[in-house]
Amino acid sequence: MSTTLLTGIKTLVTNSPELGDAGSETDRLGIIHDAAVVLDGESVAWVGRAADAPAADSARDLEGGAVLPGFVESHSHMIFAGDRSEEFSARMQGKKYEAGGIRGTVAKTRAASAEELHCNYKNLLSESLRQGTTTVEVKSGYGQSTESELRSLQVAGRETDEVTLLAAHVAPPEFAGRTDDYVQMVVDEMVPTCAPYARWIDVFCEKGAFNEEQSRAVLTAGIKHGLTPRVHGNQLNPGPGVQLAVELGAASVDHVVHLSEADIDALAQSATVATVLPGADFSTRNPYPPARKLLDAGATVALGADCNPGTSFTTSMPFCIAIAVRDLHMSPDEAVWAATAGGAAALQREDVGVLRPGARADLSVLDAPNHLHLAYRPGVPLVSSVYSHGELVY
Ligand code: NIG
Ligand code: FE
Repeated sequence: MSTTLLTGIKTLVTNSPELGDAGSETDRLGIIHDAAVVLDGESVAWVGRAADAPAADSARDLEGGAVLPGFVESHSHMIFAGDRSEEFSARMQGKKYEAGGIRGTVAKTRAASAEELHCNYKNLLSESLRQGTTTVEVKSGYGQSTESELRSLQVAGRETDEVTLLAAHVAPPEFAGRTDDYVQMVVDEMVPTCAPYARWIDVFCEKGAFNEEQSRAVLTAGIKHGLTPRVHGNQLNPGPGVQLAVELGAASVDHVVHLSEADIDALAQSATVATVLPGADFSTRNPYPPARKLLDAGATVALGADCNPGTSFTTSMPFCIAIAVRDLHMSPDEAVWAATAGGAAALQREDVGVLRPGARADLSVLDAPNHLHLAYRPGVPLVSSVYSHGELVY
């Protein structure tokens, strides 16, 4: 295996406090200034101060840029056809976002071929890669029949291991007014058929989608078939999503906009990650989640871009970092951690979201002297190159 030495790194974010210049938890990002990294095949072999760098087979000078672990996107819906730009336009002129819009994408997704879905998905993945995202969780959820969900999972699995069966997104038209019957079908047929193709089970627990009892039934069926739960909760209204997620030991509960004090406490006391998706709040003109309160209470917060055609048609983690800092009152350090190590925590992964020996060699290089520029320079394409599994892919 050949080794590569990356030098000329003005600021290296390791997310490994013990490796940082501060050498302690006071700097959770584990920042090393004037750093170097050695890649060995698919893994990181060494990180440290440039002055101490070992020899390698080849070298590349990054000319004073910043290096971060690749972003870990823990919430996306990239398997779909069509777009909903008209719905977005109407919303910007005052129409309210409702879960029902999902049905338009369900119709188009069912009608599309697997190759069309894959092509759209690959374009979105390449878009996110160019913005520094190297791990992506991908949900089904625009099929809402056993056959169509299965197909979405198979397409998703062509590009990622982080595949989620979003079995209950919104009851499809053939089950109109019969949501309980839809849930029964999901439990009896969809979950058993689809579980071998997924790692996670998800549900949209929300008024107009699935209530607490229905959500519990779907998630419990997933657990029975070896899937780990994650939940869309408390996005549009206060509701039972957070408590249900914590009760079932979900890896993450996502959106978390409308939270009670009890919800915040429950998240702070549990291992369930609170994932904020401010791109969705931005594009629905809804309130932002109380990220500051969650962090101050001690909850683990992840940040995702939530790429989907309805609420958040962005793949840009830097854009979401900028909103998280400006509008969710996260510090730039907290937002960068949430988009890297936080996403990894939400996916229960230890090999990504960090740069230390043994980690996967996924990293992005910024044309900026430090990571603060991600929020400080909103909308500017700062990611100048990206390594995935040790390979320069952008
Ligand atoms: O994460 N909230 C539910 N699911 C998506 C939106 C789906 C859609 O509108 O198509 C989300 O925001
Ligand atoms: Fe979502």
